[in-house]
Amino acid sequence: MPPFLLVLFGATGDLAHKKLIPAIYRLRERSPTPFTVLGVGRSDWDDGRMQAKALDALRDAGIDAGEARAWAEASVRYAEVAAYDHLGPVFERAATLHGSDHRIYYLATPPSTFEGVLEAVGAHEREAAGAGWPRLVIEKPFGHDLASAQALNRLVHRAFREEQVYRIDHYLGKDTVQNLLVFRFANQLFEALWNRQHVEHVDILVAEAVGVEGRAGYFDRVGSLRDMIQNHLTQLFTLAAMEPPPVFSADAIRQEKLKVLRSTAPLDPGAVVRGQYGPGPDGQAGYRDHEGVPADSQTETYAAVELVVNNWRWQGVPFRLRTGKRLPERRTEITVTFRCPPVTLFEAAGPCGVEPNRLRIRLQPREGFRLGFEVKHPGDGFSLSTQHLDFRYEDAFGRIPDAYETLLHDVARGDQTLFVHADEAEAAWALYGPLLDADLPVHPYPSGSWGPSALGREGWATTDAQALPRP
Ligand code: BG6
Repeated sequence: MPPFLLVLFGATGDLAHKKLIPAIYRLRERSPTPFTVLGVGRSDWDDGRMQAKALDALRDAGIDAGEARAWAEASVRYAEVAAYDHLGPVFERAATLHGSDHRIYYLATPPSTFEGVLEAVGAHEREAAGAGWPRLVIEKPFGHDLASAQALNRLVHRAFREEQVYRIDHYLGKDTVQNLLVFRFANQLFEALWNRQHVEHVDILVAEAVGVEGRAGYFDRVGSLRDMIQNHLTQLFTLAAMEPPPVFSADAIRQEKLKVLRSTAPLDPGAVVRGQYGPGPDGQAGYRDHEGVPADSQTETYAAVELVVNNWRWQGVPFRLRTGKRLPERRTEITVTFRCPPVTLFEAAGPCGVEPNRLRIRLQPREGFRLGFEVKHPGDGFSLSTQHLDFRYEDAFGRIPDAYETLLHDVARGDQTLFVHADEAEAAWALYGPLLDADLPVHPYPSGSWGPSALGREGWATTDAQALPRP
C-alpha cells in the first residue's frame, strides 16, 4: 500500500468527531503505510485548530491523546472552503502534502453538498488524468428513493468509476455482521439447515433505546424506513439470505446480495407497520415534542416489514425486519426459528417441544450466538426443557474493532467487499418504493415499550423480543 492522502470533507462535523477521527487514528496503528489527513470544512479553522480538535475527538473516544499529539502535528492538516463547490484551496493544499499521488476523498457532509463536491473533484481528477488511485468514500443516504439514487449514481459515475467508489453502510463494517458470512459459509452444520425445508421464519431486529434528540430536524424528513430499513436491515437481510458466492471476492458477494433483492417479492403497503414514539412513563418527551418536529408529524420512528424471497431456497419463509427508536433496550439480532420436528413424540410439550429450535445471532451489544434446543428434564417421565448453547465474542477475542476502523482500512487497501454497489443501492430503493410515499397509518407507542400493539399482522409484530433470553 503506497502512502496516500485522505481528504475529509465535513472534518468539522459530528461524524468526524465521534467516529472518523478515532477510526483514522487507529488506522495508523493498523497499517504501516504513512498517510496524511486533509480536513476540509467551512469553519474558520487552521492546521493548529484541526489538530487540537482531532485530539479532543480522540480524548472523547477514550484514546490517550498524549501519544497522539506527535501524529496530529505531523499528519493532520486543514483547508477552509467558502462553499463545497469551490475547492481550489483544497487542491492547492493537497498538492503540497505527502501522499497526494493517491487520494481518498471522504464525503462526510450532508447530501446537499454532494453535487458541488463531486463536480469539483471530478474536474480536478480529469486534469490529473488518472495519476495514482483516486477513491471516493460516500456516506448514506444514497438518495431518498429510486429516482434520486439513480441521479446520485450518475453524478458519482461522471467523476469516478464504480471500482473507485466506496459507499458506506456502517453496519457492513461491524465484525459480527461480517461474521455472518463466515458463520454460514465456513460451517457445514448450519448451512445445511439454512433453507425452507428447515427454517420457519427469520427475524431481523434492530432495536434502539435512544430517540432522535438533537437530530429531529433531519430525521423528520426521513423516518425509519429510509433511515434504517432500506439500508442497515436490508444489508443484514441480504447477508442472511444470499447463496454462497463461487469465490470470496467483492464482486461475487455483491452479486449474490443483489440476487436476493431482485428475488424478493414486490411489497404491498399492507406489508409494513409504522409507529411513532410518544411520551414515556419516566417523563421522556414524545417524538412530536422534539424541537424541529411538527405537532402533526407522520414520520415513523418504528417500522416493521415482512419480506418473502421467491427463490428455491426461501420461497414461503417470511423474513421479518423490524426496527424502532425508544424501545426498551439496544439490541441488534438475527433470529432463525426452525420448523418443528415432523412427528410429535412428546405430545405434552406440543409439536415443537417447549420452544422451536432457535438460533440467535446477536450483532450488538454483547455480541455472540445462542442456540436453543430441547432436552429431557431430569426425573421421571419425559418432560422437556429448553436449554442453550452460548458463545460470546468478548470471552474469545476481547475488543472488537469499530466499524469505521475496518471500513477505512478496506478503503486504503482497495477492498470493496464491505461497501454497497450502485446496483444494490438502487435495487433496495426499488424494493421499498411502494411503501415510501404511501399514505399509511402511524401507530403511537409509548417510549420504552416494544412498539405499537395495534399492528394488524398476526403473530409477529407484537414482538417476541420481550421473551427473548439474552445471550
Ligand atoms: C444510522 C442512523 O445510520 O444508524 C441512526 O441514521 C441510527 O438513526 C444509527 O441510530 C444506528 O447505528 P448503530 O451502529 O448505533 O446501531
